[in-house]
Amino acid sequence: MHRCFLVAAVLATVSWLVAGETNFATYKLSLRWPPAHCDAPSFECKPNVLNTFTIHGLWPQFADGKVVPPYDPETNRCTDDPVTDLDQFLRLMTPLIESLRKYWPNYGDYQNETMNENFWKHAWKLHGMCSDYSDNPASYFKTAVSLGIKYIDPFKGTRITPRLVPYMAKDISDAIKEKLGVYPQIACNEVGGTVQLTEVRFCFKRGKENSPSILQDCPIRYAYKCSDDRDEIMFVPHLIG
Ligand SMILES: *[C@@H]1O[C@H](CO)[C@@H](O)[C@H](O)[C@H]1NC(C)=O
Repeated sequence: MHRCFLVAAVLATVSWLVAGETNFATYKLSLRWPPAHCDAPSFECKPNVLNTFTIHGLWPQFADGKVVPPYDPETNRCTDDPVTDLDQFLRLMTPLIESLRKYWPNYGDYQNETMNENFWKHAWKLHGMCSDYSDNPASYFKTAVSLGIKYIDPFKGTRITPRLVPYMAKDISDAIKEKLGVYPQIACNEVGGTVQLTEVRFCFKRGKENSPSILQDCPIRYAYKCSDDRDEIMFVPHLIG
């Protein structure tokens, strides 16, 4: 009896490994603040910079907060038969195109369809192919967009608004915690010595149906140029063009 159970357990493990799924635990939804990206010298944005958060991506990540690496057919078959044909991928996106343009544009030049398509392809190659939706890009993007719409204005109803006086990182983080009950990950860049908020990211438990489900604290609270509750962070207003 005991032995049977062990054999069954081993078989289950083996078939799970053969299926090649990555043992990731959470999804991270990343939302960008274009004004802070666009005032960095390394980025070239077309005039009329967007004045709303936009989706950067939905990333499978491990429990420790590390992002699942991209699909690699040779070494890392994180998933079975993902859609790897990028033209086929774009055709499958057709029904979603309007919401993608609106919520998931390439903020550098959001009116340029080639730029947008390249950005979505990039998101698919880097993160979608290793998600639970690897055979179904439309579901992957639809899921991401519906989460995006829900959280697209992350500071709505809080006291955090864009301004020319920096915030303590903790105040930004706490505002989200008070509003939603979870800590986000805050990502920053640095422009001319000023640390600026570039992204707000939300972490979701990977649900029973293998979908992003319940919000949870992000295991790593800060990224790139911010790293500590006491950092001073500018949430830059939309000033340029
Ligand atoms: C749109 O972007 C593509 C790729 O970056 C570029 O080659 C093309 O010139 C752009 N079109 C316009 C109208 O700016």
